[in-house]
Amino acid sequence: MLFDSHTHLDDRKFDSDRDEVIKEIIDAGVTYALNAGADMDSSKRAIALSKEYPFIYASVGVHPSDAAYMTDEDIDTLRALAAEEKVVAIGEIGLDYHYDNTDKPAQKKWFDRQMRLAAELEMPVIIHDREAHGDCMEILSKYDLTKTGGVLHCFSGSLEMALKAIKMGMYISFAGPVTYKNSVNLKEIAASLPLERILIETDSPYLPPGAYRGQRNTSAYVGLVAEEIARLRGMNTEEVAKITLENAKRLFKIG
Ligand code: NI
Repeated sequence: MLFDSHTHLDDRKFDSDRDEVIKEIIDAGVTYALNAGADMDSSKRAIALSKEYPFIYASVGVHPSDAAYMTDEDIDTLRALAAEEKVVAIGEIGLDYHYDNTDKPAQKKWFDRQMRLAAELEMPVIIHDREAHGDCMEILSKYDLTKTGGVLHCFSGSLEMALKAIKMGMYISFAGPVTYKNSVNLKEIAASLPLERILIETDSPYLPPGAYRGQRNTSAYVGLVAEEIARLRGMNTEEVAKITLENAKRLFKIG
């Protein structure tokens, strides 16, 4: 029983064998997966997958890398898409300052607009934060997240930031990088946060766990993230799988 709280099964990398991959994911014991939208088209594809497969849920939103091209009309479209039955969050949205040529003011503007949409719709948010911790926390802190909540996906900040986000109403999600040998800080954070605020994810097809580095990642490997967190905390994997599944169901109001 596993909940992959962040995957991109709509990605083009699955076009040639998506049905087989999804069968392997189900066989691996994944009982829930949230397919995150990353742009307008993938948000629609996420919804289509949620209609086709009972275990898949969807979120809609535009990733910061594409947010500079957003329009007011896109916000209206996202609002309409968010009304679809299995859409449970707005995301992934946020800030990504990794590339030098990025338009930071545009990213901030459209992150904030999508945060406002989530607040209006009273839906949780899925946050992408890469090398933008300060600005990201500043925008998040403008909103009352204690009721709707959200998740910092593929967390890459400090323990202090994680605890601050949890206080604001957020969950912290760990992906493949927590399994990498050199992720010393991340392992410490995964070992010390309250377990009832932790989610697990793959972010597939990206960021495969250590054992599959260099290969296409799929939601079938989410158990390896649970296993590593269990090892770090001296627990059994099933217990971590069960608690993180309950956490995700609570956050996304499923069942
Ligand atoms: Ni993602």
